[in-house]
Amino acid sequence: MPLLQVKNLKTYYQTARGYVKAVDGVNFQIEEGEVFGLAGESGCGKTTVALSIIRLLPPGGRIIDGKIIFNDKNILTMSEEDIRKIRWKKIAIVFQGAMNALNPVIKVGDQIVEAITTHENVSKEDAWKRTEKLFEMVGIDPSRAKDYPHEFSGGMKQRVMIAMALACNPQLLIADEPATALDVIVQAQILKLMRELQRKMNLSMMLITHDLSIIAETCNKVAIMYAGKIVEYADTKRIFRDPQHPYTRGLINAFPSIRGPKRKLISIPGTPPDLLNPPSGCRFHPRCPYTNDKCKKIEPELKDIGERHYVACHMSW
Ligand SMILES: Nc1ncnc2c1ncn2[C@@H]1O[C@H](COP(=O)(O)OP(=O)(O)OP(=O)(O)O)[C@@H](O)[C@H]1O
Ligand SMILES: [Mg+2]
Repeated sequence: MPLLQVKNLKTYYQTARGYVKAVDGVNFQIEEGEVFGLAGESGCGKTTVALSIIRLLPPGGRIIDGKIIFNDKNILTMSEEDIRKIRWKKIAIVFQGAMNALNPVIKVGDQIVEAITTHENVSKEDAWKRTEKLFEMVGIDPSRAKDYPHEFSGGMKQRVMIAMALACNPQLLIADEPATALDVIVQAQILKLMRELQRKMNLSMMLITHDLSIIAETCNKVAIMYAGKIVEYADTKRIFRDPQHPYTRGLINAFPSIRGPKRKLISIPGTPPDLLNPPSGCRFHPRCPYTNDKCKKIEPELKDIGERHYVACHMSW
């Protein structure tokens, strides 16, 4: 039984102009101890998937269909009280841009203590001891727990956010672009730390990124998302060895570090569609070099092409 199963998830945002179909029929699962990558260009719905899993959507956001089964229970039909028992304790999240959300006037250690005491019935002293251990775990001298956020570099703040997410010993950690705002060297350090913690704690992880080189180095499995849908899903090695969907191929072409620096980079022409009015048929068809009439009219299903490699493309060969 997988730890998490997302089935036919649809999450829309109600806006003055209509419904933004941010996530529109998404399926995937995460096994225990697995690192699952969710990749795709900006605006394709990655964060919305993450926020749906913990049911923390911004105003206007609504899950309109689907199931999210975690440890055999459907998160989407749970009471607010039951979801609160799971959020942070079982499923924790490092939000996109989270390091800038630390409260500037509270010592970082106290912010973690507060996170712990809000979710667990422990004394402040014990929570402080745990915070010091968490600091060690993420590679920060525990004495720094008494410092304020402005005394930390970006990389250190991100380590603090990871410590905060791990504070209640979750089963699943969702990390939404955990390294994106950092320079390349610090990015590599953060990802190395996450890999180490994942192995040490046998964490299941969902790593969200637009950067396929991060997926290649970190994830066991990957789902490629485009315009609110998953277009390809397989083992990471398989995706990079044998990408099937033209969008996946385009994304792989757009990243230099995966197959060596000598290849000419070709970016995908155009931009992702407005999800208020997504294109008919295959949502990628306006940007796809292989488009035919069928692609314009009929939406391709996500099909298993063998060895649990799934592709949603009429041309998949
Ligand atoms: N609060 C909101 N109200 C209305 N539309 C929203 C809201 N949040 C996101 N959207 C829209 O939903 C779609 C998916 O957004 P989402 O943030 O999930 O994408 P993403 O893949 O995480 O992008 P990024 O890589 O930029 O973080 C986008 O079209 C976005 O404009
Ligand atoms: Mg996002």
